Order: sequence, then structure tokens, then C-alpha cells
Amino acid sequence: MDTTPHPLWWQTGVIYQIYPRSFQDSNGDGVGDLTGVIQRLDYLSSTLGVDAIWLSPFFPSPQADWGYDVANYTDVDPLFGDLTTFDQLLAEAHRRGIRVIIDWVPNHTSDQHPWFIESRSSRNNPKRDWYIWRDARAGGLPNNWLSLFGGPAWEWDENTGQYYMHSFLKEQPDLSWRNPEVKAAMFDVARFWLERGVDGFRIDVAHFIMKDPELRDNPLNPKRADTAYKPLGAYDTQIHLHDKGHPDGHAIWREFRALLDAYSAGQPRYCVGEIHIFDWREWGSYYGANLDELHMPFNFALLFAPWQAASIRKTVDDLEAALPRGAWPNYVLGNHDEPRLASRVGRDNARLAAMLLLTLRGTPTLYYGDEIGMTNVSIPPGRQRDPFGLCVPGQGRDPCRTPMQWSDAPNAGFAPPHATECWLPLSPDYREINVECQLAEPTSFLNLYRRLLACRKSTPALQWGSYHPLGGAAKDCYVYLRQAKNQRILVALNFSEQEQSLDLSTFGHGRIRASTCMDREGQSNLAPLVLRPDEGVMVECASNREVIS
Ligand code: GLC
Repeated sequence: MDTTPHPLWWQTGVIYQIYPRSFQDSNGDGVGDLTGVIQRLDYLSSTLGVDAIWLSPFFPSPQADWGYDVANYTDVDPLFGDLTTFDQLLAEAHRRGIRVIIDWVPNHTSDQHPWFIESRSSRNNPKRDWYIWRDARAGGLPNNWLSLFGGPAWEWDENTGQYYMHSFLKEQPDLSWRNPEVKAAMFDVARFWLERGVDGFRIDVAHFIMKDPELRDNPLNPKRADTAYKPLGAYDTQIHLHDKGHPDGHAIWREFRALLDAYSAGQPRYCVGEIHIFDWREWGSYYGANLDELHMPFNFALLFAPWQAASIRKTVDDLEAALPRGAWPNYVLGNHDEPRLASRVGRDNARLAAMLLLTLRGTPTLYYGDEIGMTNVSIPPGRQRDPFGLCVPGQGRDPCRTPMQWSDAPNAGFAPPHATECWLPLSPDYREINVECQLAEPTSFLNLYRRLLACRKSTPALQWGSYHPLGGAAKDCYVYLRQAKNQRILVALNFSEQEQSLDLSTFGHGRIRASTCMDREGQSNLAPLVLRPDEGVMVECASNREVIS
């Protein structure tokens, strides 16, 4: 009997996040665009070898939150191109076997979206209830809810004498998902893109859409313990019980999944939700009781786990234990909202992180530039663009959004040499750290990523095999086995700055498939396996041994 599973593309594949403003500027206005992405598809498919791209928003927008304030969900902002360019991008990506997922931003629109312009025009407008409007309470705010980007979550509208709610900027009013017309309109948006051929969606703040129907006050958080995944300042003075994460959201996700499934006959569609929830049970509930909601809630836990073997292993093991039966895991080490990986863990450890991300069980999502070890760029005060950072000091996300470093040419090859100033400053290190230089250097970051991606693609144990952590490893090392049928891959990661010697003699001999130092391959004795400081090694074990079940 053939017991080979038949995993889908989003399970075996590696997804690469493109922040379109910063990837490739084709027309010299200092902002990346869709034609630029097309120009770089060969890099993504042939040079790097990823399977799918996720494009952050490119829709018409006043750019108050750099595109996460959408003014028209079914078009392309002229900054980035037009629908024809998008269709071309999709066709060119598909021709190379690359799937395309796009952002779907359901929680809020721009205040310039025609729906909101109508909604705020009068209390009797048919779209009034598409947003969350409330009277003042005792002459003040309707309740105590706060905006994540600072200040109250309520903005007074002089014209109609009520407040509207916004979880983020006041330029991003929250839609009222309890109104079936909103759901119908946003589902039509999804249909529009599915019919154009996209392979799926990344859902922005998926856990925010449903709030307490009575809009009750949030309880205070007297201990001021973090209420989110990282300290968020004044936002942490409350426990965010009522302003997001209401269980009624699950019914929406079930319907949304049914919509995707209805489009999946010839082309499996997929959605991943941005869910910042760190209670594993609650997080896991977004897969759906019958795996009938999101294909995956993003798993951000590795972004915040202390960078030590024991805590990284615990994070992975906790996830594996908490996953609903049959649910598919995933891992993220960087995105457009978080400090750069190489800055968080250091450049040497970022190589170890690459091996971890690309050998764990589950779908990895890579953030553009992490494959060359881009670091946070310090942004001078006059050039800071992120509204979060401008509203809440210390929260700026510009440092991780700087232009991709393609070469040592003027503008790092991101923009043509004659371009106007890039929208964010280039990293001062771009002459040394760029794609072109790293392609020429055999042991570079980029060549490590290419090697690991190629290994993953050709190794069923890594693509869909089981995961078994191994106990008894030296302190500061994390060792696990990936296994599919009789193929077994050992991954041994040394998180310390000392050499470590591991007795893996029960596995006999093995063949080193990759080392993060990129200077050893081939047959190796596993008694012992010696790891250098910060080294990770991936070994294919002789397959005639007893298989762990
Ligand atoms: C998500 C996005 C972030 C944006 C916010 C508001 O968290 O990832 O960039 O600012 O939603 O839309």
C-alpha cells in the first residue's frame, strides 16, 4: 500500500514575503513596484528557489499605514502599477511555478475608502452601520478601548456627532463585521482576486474582526504585564478582552474557508491569518474545530522566544503538542513588523536560524532580505515614515523595511541610478551586503539559503516528514530527527560559542548534507559529531536502521 502523503503546495513549499515598496523600483520614483517584482521573478524561482510569494498591500491607498489603509480593494495603486501589471505578474510567476498570495485587510479600511466616506456622510446613510459608530458616553468616549498605535480607539466626527472606532490609526476605521453587508462586500473582494487567479491570501489581523457586541470596557491590567507579544506601551494598561478576539470570528473564518474551498478544485487556494495570540489553545482554535477555518494561523512564537537551544526547542515542542490533529504547522522568523532576524540574533546565529527555519516540520515564511542577512537600518529622525513609530516612540518599523540590497550599484540596484531618493534610506552596508556579492562568495548567507532551500526541495523527510526532538544532547544544542518513510535527517544546532561534541552513535554513519559553515559535506562518523561554535549541521542517516515511529 502506498502510504506516501500527498501534501499540498502550501505545506511543502517555502513562502517569501515581498514588501512591494522596498523590493524593486522599476521606474525611478524611489518606491518599489509590481514591474520591479516581475523583473526579480527569476531570482526568486531559479536563484533562490522559493515556491510562493506573499505580496504586502499594493492597493490604492493614501499610504497612512503604507498600504494597510486600503481605499479600494479591487485595484492597484498607480504607485505600484495597474491591474494589467498585476495580471502579468501573476502569469509570469505561475509560468515559473511560483504561487502568489496577496494581503486581504478585512478589519479596517482607509478613511478615504468610498464606504467610509459614505458612512460618515450622515447618520442615515445606508453604509452608516458598515463601521462602528457610537454616541459619547457621559460626554466622553464610548468606552475605554485603546488604539494599538496610541491614544483612544475612538475618533469624534463633528459632522454627525458620533465617534467611530479604530483599532489602529484614526485613518483606519474598523469595519463592523456583525453587519452581513460588510461580510458580503469583503467576500466579493476575495472572489475578485480568486477569479483573477491568486493562490490565496494573508489575512491582516485576522483575530481583530469581531469585538464584544456590547462594546464593554476592557479590564485594567494593574500589573502592566505585556498584553501582547511584545511591550506596546500604554496599550498594555488594559487586558484586551473585549476589543478583539471575540469567538464569533470563527463563524466568519468557516465561511471564508468554504469560499476558498469552492475555488480550489483545479487550483488549491490557501489562507494564512495574522494572529498575534500566544496561548497555544486559543491560537490553535483558528484552524477550526474540524480544520475548517484558516489553513494556518501564522505562528510568530519563534520571533519572541529567547535565542537559546532549550527555549527554541520548548517553543517547537509546545507547538507540536498543541496543534490540532491533522493541522499543519508553520514558522516565521521575520516580517515587515519586526526587527530584522540578523539584528535580533546576530549574524552568526542568523545562519543557524536559517537552518532551523528550513528544516523544521511546517511551512517556513521568509522575509525579503533575510536571505542575505540584512540588518535593521538606523533611520535619521527626518526620514522616519512609520506612523506607529511616529505615534509611539520606540515602535518604529522602518528599520526592517529598507530597500532590498541587490548590488553595490548606486541605489543598491533597488532603483535605477537616476532615481529620486529612495522612500527609506538604504543600509550603509549595501556595498558589501548584497545579492550580487553574495552570489560570488561560495559560503555567503545567500548561498547557505540556496543550499538549504535546494535540500528541502529534494528531501521528503524535510518537506513532510515527522519531527522527533532528541533528548540528552549537549547543553546549548538542539537536535532533532526528521523522518519520512525510511529517509532520516538529523539536524544538530549548536547555539553556544563553544565547540560541542554530540554522541549520535545510535545513528551509525551519516552523510552531511549541509553545514551552516558550508565547508563540509559527505560521509561522517556520528560518534561523535563535533559542532563548531554557532554551527548547525544536517546529516542524512543510513536508512537501514530501525526507524523511530
Ligand atoms: C498588521 C500589519 C501591520 C499594520 C497593521 C494594521 O499588523 O502587519 O503592518 O500596520 O496590521 O493594518
